[in-house]
Amino acid sequence: MNLTEFIEGRRDQHLAELLEFLRIPSVSAKSENKPDIERAAQWVADHLRVAGFKTVEIVPTNLHPLVYAESLEAPGKPTVLFYGHYDVQPAEPLELWTSPAFEPQSRDGNLFGRGTADDKGQVHIHLKALESLHQLHGKFPVNIKVLIEGEEEVGSVSLWDYVQNNKEKLKADALLVSDTAMLGRGVPSITYALRGLDYYQIELTGPVRDLHSGVYGGAVPNPLTVLTELFAKLHDKNFRVTVPGFYDDVAKVSATERKALNKLPWKVKDFERAVGAPAYVGEKGFTIVERLWIRPTLELNGIWGGYQGEGTKTVIPSKAYAKFSTRLVPDQNPRKIAKLVEAHIRKLLPKTVHCKFEVLSTGKPWAAAYQAPIFQVAQEALQKGFGKKAVFIREGGSIPFVAQMHDTFKVPCVLIGFGLPDENAHAPDEHIFLENYFSGIKAIAHFYQDLASL
Ligand code: BES
Ligand code: MN
Ligand code: MN
Repeated sequence: MNLTEFIEGRRDQHLAELLEFLRIPSVSAKSENKPDIERAAQWVADHLRVAGFKTVEIVPTNLHPLVYAESLEAPGKPTVLFYGHYDVQPAEPLELWTSPAFEPQSRDGNLFGRGTADDKGQVHIHLKALESLHQLHGKFPVNIKVLIEGEEEVGSVSLWDYVQNNKEKLKADALLVSDTAMLGRGVPSITYALRGLDYYQIELTGPVRDLHSGVYGGAVPNPLTVLTELFAKLHDKNFRVTVPGFYDDVAKVSATERKALNKLPWKVKDFERAVGAPAYVGEKGFTIVERLWIRPTLELNGIWGGYQGEGTKTVIPSKAYAKFSTRLVPDQNPRKIAKLVEAHIRKLLPKTVHCKFEVLSTGKPWAAAYQAPIFQVAQEALQKGFGKKAVFIREGGSIPFVAQMHDTFKVPCVLIGFGLPDENAHAPDEHIFLENYFSGIKAIAHFYQDLASL
């Protein structure tokens, strides 16, 4: 039996097992889910053993465990390191889910549930691809190291310590990641660039305590007003970020590359349907694809303070808060950008408030050439799985680990994603298109197999 037939014959089994994985609410951000995180790590470890790995470890860390496995029984063959994450984003707001986040359900060819696309569904694609190869041939075609973490959605802190302390152990000829999206339906994609991410929080304090807005209003500063004025000043009328120096280190993208990106089979109509806004804005002088992939941004993620309950409460709040972030592109330096942003904000703020400024996380952007022969192998494997030619894309999202690994090991990083941009990652009704899940298993199995002849 050939590889494709073998995998085709196990669709129901694979799907049933994925549901089991998705039912574990492995939310890394919440301490109440700690037991579920432990259970998910154990689940991954158990299924790596079932897939054929004899060396499997659950590595405890300061926060959530990592799962590491290796099989180095293919002398003379390349060694690949596969990376993914078993943790997921919180499911809130729960009332906006059509079916419960941790009770996965198939509807109209899609599987709905938290983690279906980001990233448990994609991790499972690799588990089943590897298991199929092992069952068919009694061994893996190449040397494989697997690293699956539980802190991706909260910044991968423990992972980075682990890599620093285990460089020899993790050494490989290539890094393989499935935690991105395809350009669109029927367009298998290989990602060669990601944006970086700095995440910030500020707390503004005006009056030392909340005040009656009638007794004091008119004569005291209101930190909420100051906060909104501040954020109104962070973009100009061309939607450029006003932080001085913000664009200084942005690498110029060649005319050839811009042309290639703008020619990809991508439709503004699909983008607009997915977003559903009444109208669109973005940095002047750039197309939508360029705004998403090659330009840095500043986004307000959340803003709060004062009274938000039922009815009215006349109050001048003592404090106002905001969470915001900057997406970064090569060659912006995350630490330098954080300093520029802080300096600009402190300069813009009036003397009427105190400002506590925190950088919650930083992550480097990444972009790399895709000339190495392994990219050809990846493209051919996707052709085998999807029956379509794969395209090379950039992405606007961030996986800081990829840049760190690329810097550390200087090896090709092959990002093959099976999500779609409109599958609601991080939002209610997250889902994965089941055909992409099934085709993904075939493509990835062929990829590992074909790597043997590299
Ligand atoms: N899988 C995503 C990253 C991603 C999404 C890459 C879409 C490309 C396209 C990852 O799980 C994620 O959500 N990353 C966060 C950053 C992280 C440091 C919390 C992000 O991009 O916001
Ligand atoms: Mn992810
Ligand atoms: Mn994510």
